Amino acid sequence: MLAILIPVLLFLRVIAVAADPSDFRQETNFDEGRTGPSLNVSSCPGYAVVSERQTNQGLVVQLSLAGEACNAFGHDIANLTVEVTYETATILHVNIYDSAKIQFTVPQDVVSLSVGENDPTLKDRSDLEFHHDSNPFEFWISRRSDPDRLPLFDTRTKSLPPTPIPPVIPGDNTTALDGFPLVFEDQYLQLTSALPLDANIYGLGEVLASSGFRRDVGTNGGVGTIQTMWARDSPDPIDENIYGSHPIYLEHRYDAQTRRSKSHGVFHFGAAGSDVLLLTPPVSNTSLIQYRMVGGTLDFYFFSGPSPQKVIEQYGELVGRPTWQPAWGFGFHLCRWGYADVNETRQQVAKMREANIPLEVMWNDIDLYHALRDFTTDPVSFPADQMEAFISDLTANQQHYIPIVDAAIAKLVNASDVYDPYTRGSELDVWMTNPDGSEYLGQMWPGYTVFPDWFANNTRGFWTEALRNWSTAGVNYSGIWLDVNEPSSFCIGSCGTGANLTAATIPTMFFPGTPGNLVTEYPEGYNATIWGPSGNITINGTLTFGNHSFGRLHKKRGLGAAAEPGVNLDSPPYSLHNADGFLSTHTVSTNATHANGAVELDTHNLWGLMEEKATHLSLLELRPGKRPFMISRSTFPSSGRWTGHWLGDNISKWQYMYLSIQGVLQFQLFQIPFVGADTCGFQGNTDEELCNRWMQLSAFMPFYRNHNVRSALSQEPYRWDSVANASRTAISIRYSMLPYWYTLFANASMRGTPPIRALFFEFPDEPELFTVDRQYMIGRDLLVTPVLTPNVSTVDGIFPGQGRVKWRDWYTHAVVDAAISQNTTLDAPLGHINVHIRDGSALLLYDSPAYTIAETRQSPFALLVAQASDGYAFGTAYLDDGESVQPTPNTTLTMKARKGELTIRPQGDFDVQQRLVKITVLGAGRTRPTDIRVNGKPLRNSSNWQFDSGLERLVISGLSLDLNAPISLTWQ
Ligand SMILES: *[C@@H]1O[C@H](CO)[C@@H](O)[C@H](O)[C@H]1NC(C)=O
Ligand SMILES: *[C@@H]1O[C@H](CO)[C@@H](O)[C@H](O)[C@H]1NC(C)=O
Ligand SMILES: *[C@@H]1O[C@H](CO)[C@@H](O)[C@H](O)[C@H]1NC(C)=O
Repeated sequence: MLAILIPVLLFLRVIAVAADPSDFRQETNFDEGRTGPSLNVSSCPGYAVVSERQTNQGLVVQLSLAGEACNAFGHDIANLTVEVTYETATILHVNIYDSAKIQFTVPQDVVSLSVGENDPTLKDRSDLEFHHDSNPFEFWISRRSDPDRLPLFDTRTKSLPPTPIPPVIPGDNTTALDGFPLVFEDQYLQLTSALPLDANIYGLGEVLASSGFRRDVGTNGGVGTIQTMWARDSPDPIDENIYGSHPIYLEHRYDAQTRRSKSHGVFHFGAAGSDVLLLTPPVSNTSLIQYRMVGGTLDFYFFSGPSPQKVIEQYGELVGRPTWQPAWGFGFHLCRWGYADVNETRQQVAKMREANIPLEVMWNDIDLYHALRDFTTDPVSFPADQMEAFISDLTANQQHYIPIVDAAIAKLVNASDVYDPYTRGSELDVWMTNPDGSEYLGQMWPGYTVFPDWFANNTRGFWTEALRNWSTAGVNYSGIWLDVNEPSSFCIGSCGTGANLTAATIPTMFFPGTPGNLVTEYPEGYNATIWGPSGNITINGTLTFGNHSFGRLHKKRGLGAAAEPGVNLDSPPYSLHNADGFLSTHTVSTNATHANGAVELDTHNLWGLMEEKATHLSLLELRPGKRPFMISRSTFPSSGRWTGHWLGDNISKWQYMYLSIQGVLQFQLFQIPFVGADTCGFQGNTDEELCNRWMQLSAFMPFYRNHNVRSALSQEPYRWDSVANASRTAISIRYSMLPYWYTLFANASMRGTPPIRALFFEFPDEPELFTVDRQYMIGRDLLVTPVLTPNVSTVDGIFPGQGRVKWRDWYTHAVVDAAISQNTTLDAPLGHINVHIRDGSALLLYDSPAYTIAETRQSPFALLVAQASDGYAFGTAYLDDGESVQPTPNTTLTMKARKGELTIRPQGDFDVQQRLVKITVLGAGRTRPTDIRVNGKPLRNSSNWQFDSGLERLVISGLSLDLNAPISLTWQ
């Protein structure tokens, strides 16, 4: 689910205006002693080098402000330290921080980056080199191997012509900056780097970018992209900040002379709200990337690649590689908001079975809850005993169940109210607080709520206990769905500090259809008499609104905004291009406070990640030895270590099916590869044709779930015959490919290699592919060309390789007669998705995909080999028990082919029980073989093999080969 439907969002914004009277801001007087916001950052003085010294691993440079403080959007920080560290041969770290270390930095126990190798020789042999000028301090990074030392990243931008930035929020002039000096203030940091004109930039999210997967850097005097990093619950608007924050980009440089390309990556490690701009100054031969942060430090990592995949792997090496998925997670998932009771949910499982459409995991949205509260079941519609029976039936059929967990925890409404998670959490002191230490009050579906403070010592224990109690009270889930963890809250800031309390009734208006007996009353704990005329509130005699004494807070290293009484916690002087404007809109207030004293302004973007980490660790504790399965909405660098992701509350429109491809590609780069869209669309009504195409497309995406909004037209795949057929076809292929998917994800977890790939990841020297995002590759070997428009029976797609690669149709095995470097038109009737096999590949498959993943895993294996013209083919398959936490016994099969010969070699300690029963070789030559040998023994029974000279296909069936021993096949 959910967030908010668009009309409702508009409604909310109306409320927001009403609830956010101007006095709300006027009374917030933070600016004593501050030079007012300046529009001209180009007058900021920059920094000069004071001293520098070599270290074992690099260099440390001390900087001081090179002139009068400009105090553009905060207070200039006089003294900075630049720490340059050659972390590995491919990762260079440039960390610019305030020498006093007051600014907030992401704590180690939230994101632990892998430490470098501490190898003093790296300074002289690392792929990347750091260079700098002293006055002003400017730095650039180049490749050691490049004789011209062309900069990859270059902050020598002070003198470039200014580019006015159009304000997104009308009347907001603070965004109309110009000039590009280094600025480091408590509440405004700016760093700018030159890019090649019209650079190929990918990443920076989360976003649905109208430019496509390749970002827009603008043209002459224009801003192409403003990517804001401020986690936001908004149902999939285009070109705005949404759920997650990922300040990592990949730049792919193509040299038209040599026709070779190289990629590098740049990661800004920081949680502060930020705008990242891609722009091109007027009359300029460079484009620019500019970082603008409202806090934190300028902590950058550079990855040398030089291939796109290497960049992504190097990023994974730094932030942590993706968690291992259980095999069942690759099955088909079904969900909707609006399964009214346990029997309706049960009925879906039965209908899917009747229609013989594989269903692996059944989900419930918030319908499950009692009074919309986390960790409950509704006693009338989802009685615990019936849920228990339902889930145990699923388990008996080797199917699974996943419930939703919302971020906010309901507050007790009166003295007789019983809700253990709130009571227990209060006992353990795990809620976020107001600046004065009182409980922070927000509002979500259940009414007034509190929010777990992941920085508090007891929160993880509290969370595990809540998850455990739920699982023993009827909801014996196999995995967890974390929603609305930006975190979403309906008040503008704290519900206790200025919002309109009529907002408490919003939830019922949200629910389309019959509202039923939902919460419509204010919590009894709410006392209208404590509200003053201007919206001020006192709780227990303490003024909480407008109180900036910071009571118990002391200046503390690394505490950021919380440690600086002079900073503006509510509206930093620089207005981020947050599409909701005021930063506390629709989320927890930026002045909400954590147990360690940090404020939400600094940690907002970490909320989802911290919940993901806690939930993952809870699941490990509750099911020792089993891989946790999680899907979550708000993510941050390293989230992939704990969870998968879905692309949020999309819309049942064709455009959103197309956008799902760039979404999945982005998250490969973000190292959260287990990702997928709400198939058939969430908001609005889908139709048969869209759902048909989308069920097929998502079958070739990592996370495969159909999810629908309450009261929209039903869209389970059994609802239409054509969709049922299309789904059975696609799911059957997906399940037969499970060993391939599983191997790709094993490689992701072991090496950070992205399972889903843009075409140019695999063919980096082919510029015609740099913008392709209507097709993609699964691993190295499969090309998917989906239909993304209505009412067509063909689709255009490009076949990479510039004529050097043979692509064979998945279904017919025929070689495509592909145009070189341009589109080829393919047949694509409804119910058919084009999938092509690259030559030189060897894919291990299940020979008889079944209804569930567990049953499919009992299937014998088949091998599909597509030889290149020289006979070459290669592939690997990683096999283990599909559910145990690593390390666990595993075996990797290596398949290799040459002309007339195929070998399979196992390596590892997993006992592979299923036999190899069938081998298909494509590209096996035009001459019918006369001598076929398996492990040296001639195959006498000719009924066991077939040869098709037109397709150059040799199929050997009826085998029963043990994959724990080497296998060889020869034919001539
Ligand atoms: C900056 O560093 C200089 C030299 O170490 C020192 O004298 C000065 O007090 C520092 N300024 C601030 C604001 O910390
Ligand atoms: C913002 O810019 C407009 C147009 O230039 C101007 O009229 C207005 O006074 C400015 N507002 C502020 C607060 O400077
Ligand atoms: C579900 O159906 C069963 C059998 O008809 C019935 O006993 C039970 O009360 C139903 N549960 C709900 C929540 O309606």
